[in-house]
Amino acid sequence: MNKPKRYTITTALPYTNGPIHIGHLAGVYVPADIYARYLRLTGNDVAFIGGSDEHGVPITIKAKNEGVSPQDIVDKYHAIIKKSFVDFGITFDNYSRTSAPIHHETASEFFKTLNDKGAFIEETSEQLYDAEANQFLADRFVVGTCPKCGNEEAYGDQCEKCGTSLNATDLINPKSAITGNVPTLKQTKHWFLPLDKHEAFLKEWILEGHKKDWKPNVYGQVKSWIDDGLRPRAVTRDLDWGIPVPAEGGEGKVLYVWFDAPIGYISSTKEWAAREGKDWELYWKDKDTKLVHFIGKDNIVFHCIIFPAMLKAEGSYILPDNVPANEFLNLEGNKLSTSKNWAVWLPEYLEDFPGQQDVLRYALNANAPETKDNDFTWKDFQARNNNELVAIFGNFINRVVVLTNKYYEGIVPAPSDFTQVDAETLAAIKAYPDVIASSIERYRFREAGQELMNLARLGNKYLADEEPWKTIKVDESRTKTIMYVALQIASALATLCEPFLPFTSEKLKNILKLRHNEEQNDEVISNKKEIATTHKNESRNDAVSWNDVSTKKELLPANHKIGKAELLFSKIEDDTIQKQLDKLEASKKANEIANTAVEAQKETITFEDFTKLDIRVGTILEAEKMPKTKKLLKLKVDTGIDTRTIVSGIAESFSAEEVIGKRVTVLVNLAPRALRGVESQGMILMTETADGKLVFVNPDDAEVGNGLQVS
Ligand code: 2FM
Ligand code: ZN
Repeated sequence: MNKPKRYTITTALPYTNGPIHIGHLAGVYVPADIYARYLRLTGNDVAFIGGSDEHGVPITIKAKNEGVSPQDIVDKYHAIIKKSFVDFGITFDNYSRTSAPIHHETASEFFKTLNDKGAFIEETSEQLYDAEANQFLADRFVVGTCPKCGNEEAYGDQCEKCGTSLNATDLINPKSAITGNVPTLKQTKHWFLPLDKHEAFLKEWILEGHKKDWKPNVYGQVKSWIDDGLRPRAVTRDLDWGIPVPAEGGEGKVLYVWFDAPIGYISSTKEWAAREGKDWELYWKDKDTKLVHFIGKDNIVFHCIIFPAMLKAEGSYILPDNVPANEFLNLEGNKLSTSKNWAVWLPEYLEDFPGQQDVLRYALNANAPETKDNDFTWKDFQARNNNELVAIFGNFINRVVVLTNKYYEGIVPAPSDFTQVDAETLAAIKAYPDVIASSIERYRFREAGQELMNLARLGNKYLADEEPWKTIKVDESRTKTIMYVALQIASALATLCEPFLPFTSEKLKNILKLRHNEEQNDEVISNKKEIATTHKNESRNDAVSWNDVSTKKELLPANHKIGKAELLFSKIEDDTIQKQLDKLEASKKANEIANTAVEAQKETITFEDFTKLDIRVGTILEAEKMPKTKKLLKLKVDTGIDTRTIVSGIAESFSAEEVIGKRVTVLVNLAPRALRGVESQGMILMTETADGKLVFVNPDDAEVGNGLQVS
């Protein structure tokens, strides 16, 4: 076990323009929370930092679309996001927001320090401008073709397809995202961070220093950018939403969101330290502190190149020890998308699956996009729950607790001589803390979760082989030993599962009464709602610590009384999964409809032209399919004037039987024409749905013979 250390763990600050979805969770917050919980359990000093990213163009765009102010948007989503993190069990020591005064001060000071040190270049240059919107176009206000990979939907600061960080003027065929206009060029002054000047340091620090310990996907991206050559990046913008540029000539300009957002980690730490009576500087400036940034792959350049260059230029900060960025999570084979509503939203999950936070955490971790993009499917979620959590973990615990209560009224029995299998099993338990720790410390959270499940498998196998339900009939003393060993496995699981299944761990510790002081524990549980802002080490009155699992002779001593059995997990049925799939199907349909191009308006006609149309309400009296045609029905229609034959091309949408008796709208003065040898004396008016099905323009409340009225 490593010596306890001080850790600053940061998580990408989510933009407050929508709720959190499973992509955010799998990429950033689940691994980060596993890491933070594990480090606390092993006695480290941890600052686990989060917050909302409330500046930047995505927020302004959302506000424009909804006709509200950016402040309204950030207030709404900050509250939603923060609450969902609490409810999901993400144990931030502090969750702040970049609109907080402490952040504005910290970011302004940081900028001023760099400016005073001459770390920026001030330059007037031509930038993209939308004259109609009266606005410079940076970041997401401009879309164009990525010069690197040809993606036609690259943004002015980044191509999300290949990850390249761009200047807006790099885009080929740029278009304003506000008006769709082709931008013009207009002169404006900005502050640039000359990344090229930091190239040598970045090469030495990352390419030489972190070749072995950084994930290949992260190292590879960074290497490719450095190899391409770094260029100065503007750190200010001509926008009105953000932190005002604190320098002469900065009026009407704000800090680039990617300049201020990572400083948000520092301001959130300051907020926490002030509240907890700690020294924030130790967490950002002491070389013995390990700084780790959890992010998604689209944020790599900002955390591995730009922010470190800023920290280095400032001079008094430590640099990240690691940036274990994940790849992307897809959903049912398609890219997650906020705008297309192709996502599983955390607040909705929490509502649809109450009390089942651990199931999602487990499924996301088991399938995390650690080394490549991965797919979340509801079927896999169901299988992880039913085949692993219920059938392996839950089943083992249930058997142990039920049998202990049944045979010994819940009292841990004293063992007799251990057999070789018993001794091997007890020795195997002791190896798990280090095995799991080693995976976590190498940021292999999937592997760590599987190792935990292997311990539950060991328990199941032990019970299945030793069969206490049989020995109880013939050998009391052997049964006691078996149950004693099984109870040791159960208590090891209760402790080691906390990072992966925190709510389950809590429940299980309560069932096994694994607390030094139960009253104190009840108080901790009732305060749990406060965890996200004032996280306390709530597990530290545990009777069994992480290290105890390896070192203690026994975890649950004989005569200790455990509680009653409680189901830890329950089977998820097909219809529950189907409901989620139906939701996604509905999103898909809604998108298709939204994407169906509306036909352009036809040429204008005069009122006189229009009044020539004689449109009446009629009833279909008879209908038959026209032989040897796919589309045609021959109808007899009562128009109120007469009963006439109309040949209508609706047979692919309706059978003859189902249209008989239908009230329809008929154009009655259309010149008759012959269709497949039958004279058609009018036309039925129809409309078409997005998926091509015809629908009657249905005058249900009108009477046959009524003509069209103009109003
Ligand atoms: O990509 C995003 O959602 C950004 N809001 C992440 C910011 S991370 C940090 F720098 F704040
Ligand atoms: Zn690209």
